[in-house]
Amino acid sequence: MGAVSAFSLSRSVVGLAVSALVLAGCGSSLGESTGSETAEGRSGGKVKIGLLVPLSGVYAPLGEDMKAGFGLYLDQHDGKLGGREVDLVTADEGEGPQTGVPAAQKLVTQDQVTAVAGVVNSATALGLRDFFHESKKPLLVANAGADDITGSRKSEYVWRTSFSNGDVSAALGPAVAEEAKGSVYLIAADYAAGKEMVTGFRKTFEAAGGKVAGEKYTPFGKTQDFQPYLSAIRESGAEAVFAFYAGAEAVSFVKQYKQFGLAGKTALYGTGFLTEGGVLAAQGTAAVGVKTSLHYSTELDTPVNKKFVADYQAAARKAPTVYAVQGYDTAAVLDKALAEASGDSGDALVKALGAVGSIDSPRGAWKFGADHNPEQTYYLREVRADGDTAVNAVVRELD
Ligand code: BEZ
Repeated sequence: MGAVSAFSLSRSVVGLAVSALVLAGCGSSLGESTGSETAEGRSGGKVKIGLLVPLSGVYAPLGEDMKAGFGLYLDQHDGKLGGREVDLVTADEGEGPQTGVPAAQKLVTQDQVTAVAGVVNSATALGLRDFFHESKKPLLVANAGADDITGSRKSEYVWRTSFSNGDVSAALGPAVAEEAKGSVYLIAADYAAGKEMVTGFRKTFEAAGGKVAGEKYTPFGKTQDFQPYLSAIRESGAEAVFAFYAGAEAVSFVKQYKQFGLAGKTALYGTGFLTEGGVLAAQGTAAVGVKTSLHYSTELDTPVNKKFVADYQAAARKAPTVYAVQGYDTAAVLDKALAEASGDSGDALVKALGAVGSIDSPRGAWKFGADHNPEQTYYLREVRADGDTAVNAVVRELD
């Protein structure tokens, strides 16, 4: 199911789920005053948090990293957020809104969590926006970059701790326009995030004088053989490529780019998801030379990041990723907000979210902007060989 039709489907079930919330007696989520006055909220009893991440499908590794990052923060804080013991209910987002929307609705209506954190896929986030807005429950989006979530469809109840698709890709446009003298081919997964990544990149790339050789979208979650698309790239005569892929699709794309003979001849750029974490480990040396924009790299040389990398490595037995950092930071944000909130109602929590201030993150310090999206630094990264492995070396900060 395409992102748009899945989105319409999920909109149609929002009303039903919000009604179920009324029947379930979740007065606080409907703006009644009971939530902010519960004994639990005042006395610092347990707090129930929903974690919605893909545990199946093409983005499952991203969900696992996010869960591990959130878990690391909890482990470092005696299992508490805001000084309160956490009852963490994890649910599977799956591959998109068809699975992610009902899973989130269950967390709210049946499990009666105080807030939901997570969501990797933009189409899921778009499908969830109205439900959380109407339920008056806080949703902390810890990855999905859908621009409208913090743009035209911004909600008081939806906050993002990750990035917006338009921002992370726009950061790269001027750098590519400067480096690539010829035209650039744009290719991405065919769903909301892919379209927005290309649009964001194209805007700043063309504004900086860049020329586009062609644009193509590949079926999301279904494309294993990229050869026909790689042929089109070669035939276009492009000097470079901008790509958005993540998870398993990023592994296949970059490996096949090399096998097809494009690596080393046609420079490959993308948003950092193209070469992140387990994806880079699977690509190995096929990824060397790929340049990306992202708000994190394991190679950031700061005391906060060095400690985070060591702690995460010890706990998860692998290097962290941007998804792990986003999970970790989401727990940090909830920690601060729950400590200050005057109860468990959505309204009390979102008021506290607006006052969390600067987060001292492994990615560098960031804070929420007025749109509920992070104000943060984006970095230009380049994959370089490091012994037998490859790393995303930090080249410089992007404007
Ligand atoms: C998204 O759907 O917004 C997304 C998924 C994976 C990586 C980056 C963005």
